[in-house]
Amino acid sequence: MVHGGNMPNNVLMLGIESSCDETAAAVVRNGREVLSNIISSQIDIHTLYGGVVPEIASRKHIERINYVIEEALAEAGVPLSGIDAVCVTYGPGLAGPLLVGVGTAKAIAYAANKPLVGVHHIEGHIAANYIEHSSLEPPFLCLVVSGGHTHLVQVSGYNKFDIIGHTHDDAAGEAFDKVARALGLGYPGGPEIDRISKQGNPDAITFPRAKVDGCEFDFSFSGLKSAVLNYLNSCEMKNIEVNVADVAASFQQAVADVLVSRSVNAARQYGSHKIAVAGGVAANSFLRAAMQDSCKINGIELYYPSPVYCTDNAVMIAVQGYYNFMAGIRSGLDLNAVPNLKLGCV
Ligand code: KG4
Ligand code: ZN
Repeated sequence: MVHGGNMPNNVLMLGIESSCDETAAAVVRNGREVLSNIISSQIDIHTLYGGVVPEIASRKHIERINYVIEEALAEAGVPLSGIDAVCVTYGPGLAGPLLVGVGTAKAIAYAANKPLVGVHHIEGHIAANYIEHSSLEPPFLCLVVSGGHTHLVQVSGYNKFDIIGHTHDDAAGEAFDKVARALGLGYPGGPEIDRISKQGNPDAITFPRAKVDGCEFDFSFSGLKSAVLNYLNSCEMKNIEVNVADVAASFQQAVADVLVSRSVNAARQYGSHKIAVAGGVAANSFLRAAMQDSCKINGIELYYPSPVYCTDNAVMIAVQGYYNFMAGIRSGLDLNAVPNLKLGCV
């Protein structure tokens, strides 16, 4: 990445996102005002396989990305010539799907002679909190909970991120997806567990709340996932009928307990009065309510995006892209996909 450039004061960003199974494009003004948000989801296709098939995802991105971008520009009423920069997710994510977005963004930036700005997908998830909270500014603590990541991040500036906790095994979303699969629910599992848990008793079964020795703010979800699978196996062996809603609700409560207590403890220890939640699991209604209760008791202000901005979208990429752009960050036409890109590496 190189630094430089003059800053106009009515800044329009085109955002492009294709790191997993959503092909998305959006136009955002001055980092906060959404002019368009187009998402073409592949969930219907991947549901047939119980998870994302990277090869199929790449091919679907190729088919759809140009139309999605055209639609985002048309809905915003902005011609390509009116855009100030092309922002694109370049990692982390699936290599093939990322390459489709990166290749397309490079072609557009080159053809239209616009700056190219690479965006970290997780920084985008964090930035989703700026969309509907116009007064939110760093510093704040952010709990990032997606299908691939579970991080506690100290956001000390729009481009300054320090990881203070992470998962040692499964990500929170991954645990939701795996448990949902074991319960015979659809893909992605998070929304299914969220929905069916409303009819269940979260105290029906006591599942473990794992701690990681010596790492106060780290997470581990593989033990919890195994505990659910063991419970289901033992029911089967004893011929006991499983109450799916109770198992889902009890699992969901165990995940939420851990996420909430680690986040609030971290905020207190780091003297942070603001917690933001980001990523697909931030859409979980039980987690939101539990976080709200605990933040209220502890005098902490809580922020989370609307569900549509929690899961993958291009608005969040355009928003973080805006803050990268304003910091003078530019990508060259040699920008490549970085599937395992680490946080804070712009
Ligand atoms: O952020 P995201 O859209 O993609 C990644 O970057 O991974 O997150 C997807 C994850 C999936 O694991 C999905 O099951 C989970 O977010 N998710 C939820 C909910 N909505 C999506 N998990 C729990 N409750 C939800 N309502
Ligand atoms: Zn994501």
